Amino acid sequence: MTQSWDSKSYAKNARFVSDLGMPVIEWLNPKPGERILDLGCGDGALTVKLQEFGCEVIGVDSSPDFVHSAKSLGLDARLLDGHNLHFNSEFDAVFSNAALHWMTQPDRVIEGVWQSLKSGGRFVGEFGGHGNVAKIATALHTALKKRGIDPDPINPWYFPTVEEYQFRLEARGVKVNEIALIPRPTLLPTDIRGWLSTFANPFMAVIVTSERDAFLEEVIALLKPDLCDAAGQWFADYIRLRFSASKSLNSR
Ligand code: BEZ
Repeated sequence: MTQSWDSKSYAKNARFVSDLGMPVIEWLNPKPGERILDLGCGDGALTVKLQEFGCEVIGVDSSPDFVHSAKSLGLDARLLDGHNLHFNSEFDAVFSNAALHWMTQPDRVIEGVWQSLKSGGRFVGEFGGHGNVAKIATALHTALKKRGIDPDPINPWYFPTVEEYQFRLEARGVKVNEIALIPRPTLLPTDIRGWLSTFANPFMAVIVTSERDAFLEEVIALLKPDLCDAAGQWFADYIRLRFSASKSLNSR
């Protein structure tokens, strides 16, 4: 079961994801006229910002609903899984916010990015790093194991360490200029139920429909002591991995 996306639910429960993406655009430092690939463009909220810098932007995403939303903003958005990029040395930069953690074969993605970039082109992004949403993942795993379900094959997320991701990039000729883990506990605009229903579909899908509510309640009860404050506000235990890299001039 892969993650599925609904633009309306995303806008309600997760708009903070693109709202918090501006520092990544600052690392990218886009210049007018540059041709940029937005890898995992979602509903296009940041793709629009890149266009406003005067860049020529193509957004790709594996969700038909997101691509539809991005196109409705007038963007050049294409339905394409980040594991299957097919561009040929045509971009000044590849940008990615909050998408690479859904792509569980990182070497395939990095290969496609390398092929997409012009020599010296930049690869700048942010996604979930090692330890990201660890409390949420642990609660989901605990509730699944209690039901005799092995969570490991279900886990849809890739959250690497700095060392691992830097190694993978440099092994494919993408030189890392800056890379860091950034702990960022994030106030949720709705609550953890909204977060789980938006981001954790694969874990729900393995529970029979009649038992899903009880499963969800159990996960919420496990998380409440750690992620809900005295005022009833929920936080997600985000840790981001942000990096700025470039295609080495002599790599092939
Ligand atoms: C994130 O944006 O960090 C994230 C998204 C989905 C699941 C977990 C984390």
